[in-house]
Amino acid sequence: MRKNGPEAFVKKTIAKRLIDHEYELGVLAEMASKFTGSLTRLDVADPSFDTPLRIKMALVNALERNDAAHYASIRGLPAFAEAVSEFYAREFGVKADPKDEVLATAGSGEALYIVLAALAEKGGEFIVPDPTYSNYASILDLVGGVVKFVPCKEDYHLDTKRIARTVTKRTKAIVLCTPNNPTGVVYSKEELSEVIGIARKNNLAIVSDECYNQLTYDGPNISPASLVGGQERTIVVSSLSKTFSMTGWRLGYLIAPKSFIDQFEKLAFEMRGSVNTAVQYAGAEALRAPRSEIEKLVREHGAKRKFVVNSLRDMRIECSLPHGGYETFPQIPSRFRNSMQFTKFLVKSGVMVKPGIYFGPHGDKNFRIVYCREDSVLKEGMERIAGALKSD
Ligand SMILES: Cc1ncc(COP(=O)(O)O)c(C=O)c1O
Repeated sequence: MRKNGPEAFVKKTIAKRLIDHEYELGVLAEMASKFTGSLTRLDVADPSFDTPLRIKMALVNALERNDAAHYASIRGLPAFAEAVSEFYAREFGVKADPKDEVLATAGSGEALYIVLAALAEKGGEFIVPDPTYSNYASILDLVGGVVKFVPCKEDYHLDTKRIARTVTKRTKAIVLCTPNNPTGVVYSKEELSEVIGIARKNNLAIVSDECYNQLTYDGPNISPASLVGGQERTIVVSSLSKTFSMTGWRLGYLIAPKSFIDQFEKLAFEMRGSVNTAVQYAGAEALRAPRSEIEKLVREHGAKRKFVVNSLRDMRIECSLPHGGYETFPQIPSRFRNSMQFTKFLVKSGVMVKPGIYFGPHGDKNFRIVYCREDSVLKEGMERIAGALKSD
């Protein structure tokens, strides 16, 4: 790379904008690439399940349509927006007008970028519970928002008193993720109502990432948009990636009041025009999943969750049972200094997990394991971790 060339400039500006641990993850990836033998990947939240056949067939049928080769409207296909609206009303009691209150996106990743870029202004603050999904902080760093981490309680539920104390005149939004990645906590109606109270009092938006919405083990997920006073200020971010094993299809959506969607649409237009037309037709079919399909999926993930948590507990690793999603957030053994040191230790034994620091400063005594993998992979991963700890 030329020292003063444009490549060096790009590298420098990106490095400046990304939070420090991104660099460390690069170091980890390099260590992993040097491991001889096959690495057990328990770090990426991409399920090993295949997309159900009925959804694949819907895509094949969609490709035969005349409109499949053309742009859809920026907001999304009416058929997809209607399916989203019916799905959210049926499953989560949230009413959304498909014409005005839904926006199709390329996964929830893009949805988050659109929302946070739209809400951010120089010096604008965003309350982010700690630990939580890492991309909120990364995107906010990129778009000029200021991240205000608020530590969660010991059980990883929201510390709403602390959230209330963190609000300033510059606060724009509270960013939630329920079911939570990485902790597996599903926020209760009471704590969400308290957050709505804080948001109403201070005129804030609530960004609610619900991309694991159907993957819950002890009762349904609750959207703040379904609670009293919540809908007018909640922006629901969701995706078909997780429940329908469609990570590679890149389809998600936003649900929000018209006044937000009108503005998000302008950003979406500048960023990417419309979302893949045929994939939206298939997505509409996905959202009409029979209950038995979802129940089976939840049962299968639920069994994997118990296997991983019990295996870790047998190794005397403290680990709470997740209530949703397909990640768990165990504690690192006390003899390790921090989560990166422990993660590097595991990489040397052929297991890749994510260091807890990646999910916020209060995650540094934990690591994240995803359990949406084949049983044989989970078994191998657990054996490798047990072996590494024994020989240390
Ligand atoms: C909480 C959360 N939000 C958003 C995403 C982004 O997923 P996608 O863009 O595939 O919808 C992920 C992926 O791991 C996630 O865990």
